[in-house]
Amino acid sequence: MELPSACSHPGWSVLALVLGLLLWARRRRGWDPRKCPTDLTGKTVIVTGANSGIGKCVAMELARRNARTILACRSQERGQAAVEEIRAATGNPAVLLRLLDTGSLASVRAFAQTVLREEKRLDVLVNNAGLTDLLKASAPARIVNVSSFRHGVGTADVRYLTGQAQPGGYDPIYNSTKLMNVLFTAELAQRLQGTGVTANSVNPGVVSTRIMRHFSWAMRTLFLLIRPFIKSAEQGAVSTLYCAVSEEVSGITGKYFDSDCALALPSAAARDAGLARKLWEESERLTGLPAGPQH
Ligand SMILES: NC(=O)c1ccc[n+]([C@@H]2O[C@H](COP(=O)([O-])OP(=O)(O)OC[C@H]3O[C@@H](n4cnc5c(N)ncnc54)[C@H](OP(=O)(O)O)[C@@H]3O)[C@@H](O)[C@H]2O)c1
Repeated sequence: MELPSACSHPGWSVLALVLGLLLWARRRRGWDPRKCPTDLTGKTVIVTGANSGIGKCVAMELARRNARTILACRSQERGQAAVEEIRAATGNPAVLLRLLDTGSLASVRAFAQTVLREEKRLDVLVNNAGLTDLLKASAPARIVNVSSFRHGVGTADVRYLTGQAQPGGYDPIYNSTKLMNVLFTAELAQRLQGTGVTANSVNPGVVSTRIMRHFSWAMRTLFLLIRPFIKSAEQGAVSTLYCAVSEEVSGITGKYFDSDCALALPSAAARDAGLARKLWEESERLTGLPAGPQH
């Protein structure tokens, strides 16, 4: 293996330091949630993957703004621990756990049915689990899909959805899912035109969370070196919160926001409307869902 010697080369440390300084400088810009007065009393929000990292910080901030906050998590134990932590920190008793494993279509369907049965409205969905009717009934409502700057090196192919083709190991699959997040959001926004529900995708930046455990050891080493300079989970939550609650994003749809909360142009592949449509239609076919509204 060549990587160990490559990583121990002094050039890597210099590169990591320079990269870290650039990231440190960048994380200081952007929107400040403490200056945003939006109050969410009477509103309902769902955050998927909310028991750690960016999701937990987003849920914490939405609960602090008095939203009925539903944490959609796959583990009862980790989810309940997050519910209790958020209730204690915010004093908001309306923080709830509902089980959801986004890797299982059956679980997504069961979760969606539970929410449709139990909830009267849904104003903000961070991620997506097919709950658009409730969102439309609560318009103006917002969907925020957390993507990544790594969508830019991802590839997308309808055959990935059926397993007929694969982008490779963990990193290429991750990059592809992040690209598909952006494509899906653009197509969803088109299909939601005129309903009062907006959908945007967002890049949180480079954030120190448990996500690092999935990366190759070379990437983990690099991140360990630059860790003091990259964003904390609270800082990483800011661009998602910006899309979820800020006045500035009100009415904006089908866009991609960068980690400084600025509108940004996603990669060329992410702007391929034909590909977005094909992926959407194939997803509908595979999930057996009725065809959604056309545009
Ligand atoms: N950290 C970064 O630098 C970075 C950069 C760009 C984009 N992002 C994006 O930001 C989002 C949040 O990531 P993070 O950095 O906060 O990672 P994290 O700390 O690993 O948190 C991920 C959360 O998602 C949950 N989750 C994972 N798989 C799930 C499933 N199948 N069903 C339900 N919940 C599931 C995890 O729950 P468990 O405890 O059950 O595992 C955890 O609560 C991700 O979409 C990621 O791609 C992160």
